[in-house]
Amino acid sequence: MTQAIRTRNRSHSQEWFERAQQSLVEGVNSPSRGAAVYSPAPIILERGHRSRVWDADGNEYVDFMMSFGALIQGHAHPTLIEAVTDAMAGGSHFAAATSAEIEAAERFRRMVPSAEVVRFTNTGSEATMLALRLARAHTGRRKFLKFEGHYHGWYDPFLLNAHSHPPEQLGSVENPARIPDSAGIPPSTFVDVVLAPWNDVNSLEQVIRLHGKELAAVITEPIMANMGCILPDDGYLQRMRELTHDCGALLILDEVVTGFRYAPGGCQEYYRVEPDLSTFGKALGAGFPVGAVAGPRSILERMRWSDNMVLHYGTFNGHRLTMKVVAANLDMLAAEDTYRKLYGTGNAAITGLRQVFQRRGVRAIVQGFGPMFQIYFTERVAIHDYRDYCTYVDAKRYSKFVHQLLDLGIYMTPSNGLHWIISTAHTHADIELLLDAADQACSVLA
Ligand SMILES: Cc1ncc(COP(=O)(O)O)c(C=O)c1O
Repeated sequence: MTQAIRTRNRSHSQEWFERAQQSLVEGVNSPSRGAAVYSPAPIILERGHRSRVWDADGNEYVDFMMSFGALIQGHAHPTLIEAVTDAMAGGSHFAAATSAEIEAAERFRRMVPSAEVVRFTNTGSEATMLALRLARAHTGRRKFLKFEGHYHGWYDPFLLNAHSHPPEQLGSVENPARIPDSAGIPPSTFVDVVLAPWNDVNSLEQVIRLHGKELAAVITEPIMANMGCILPDDGYLQRMRELTHDCGALLILDEVVTGFRYAPGGCQEYYRVEPDLSTFGKALGAGFPVGAVAGPRSILERMRWSDNMVLHYGTFNGHRLTMKVVAANLDMLAAEDTYRKLYGTGNAAITGLRQVFQRRGVRAIVQGFGPMFQIYFTERVAIHDYRDYCTYVDAKRYSKFVHQLLDLGIYMTPSNGLHWIISTAHTHADIELLLDAADQACSVLA
């Protein structure tokens, strides 16, 4: 077996992080990157190439976080470097109509089954925000349903029960406790939010019976990706489709994580479910900030200029340089064999990790398939929903395990709520390094 890459010291990272305290809150630009997650301090990353990253001390890591899934082609893919360099030479952005955005949109439509038309945003958060506004305008209804443990970005009304909490705080399945994820949001924001447990057909039927006629939309992640990686039960998404159709609420499939990952057309293609609207981000931009809302002309046309239009402005919408990257990225993803390779590498990692835990007698499961998965330290055979995650997953043990992996040259966030990402840049040699490091890291769990 290949020997894991051992990191040496992190003194330069420490120095940078101390310096960062003067200028940045917590020394970072997002709480998920700081010392609350990485102990005692985050590793300052300086460079990336294909599946590898290097920190400020020159330590090398195989990266399995891949910018929270954005880097589907790995770091610094030569085709994308060329696309960016050529585009930049002609001007980064005009905030005007361009052929670049048309070419990106054409490729997008060819790949995503439900995309009659598409509107590009700059982030996944902007995409979900816009989808909700469109749904409200289209239906003339105010309320929407979101599920416990689903994250749809940091827009106010979505920030309810997106984080995990101790089980005793969750309330009952019939009447879940409503826990805001952020200070600074007026309680009135949540008046229009109906909250329900996910992956539970009975409670979905019940909540639709009670509120269906008032709902503008039901928004769901097709695979629950912000409590690790939790798959929908067979038929669950299809039943959600039927129920939303019957009550006149739009089904918004939030494919910000799953889009272009599980299939060229995302989970809507994989699970054969047709949403009214779907949202994208992350893998779409291969590392560049972009999001998208896709759907039928009859809904998206609400944004057409008129007295009663749905407003969506943005200086950087359809950013020229980003659109060039999107087009080049989608061309690579559309190539034959891309997904077979992603699945092959990912499934090798999943099978290998399961074998490591079994061999080392560690009670852990690896959930997911192909290009995305998560490890749960648990006595359970599966984690089925948010409540299972809050009750049965040992997130501290996971953090300890991942910190050990970081010392062994594997880069991953110690946050159990995220997930391992396989990019087209990962090789079977990378997986061997991971498995060897995982084997060694099991020693700290004994
Ligand atoms: C399912 C889902 N939707 C939306 C978002 C928000 O995307 P962004 O971080 O690009 O704003 C995220 C981010 O992690 C996400 O996981």
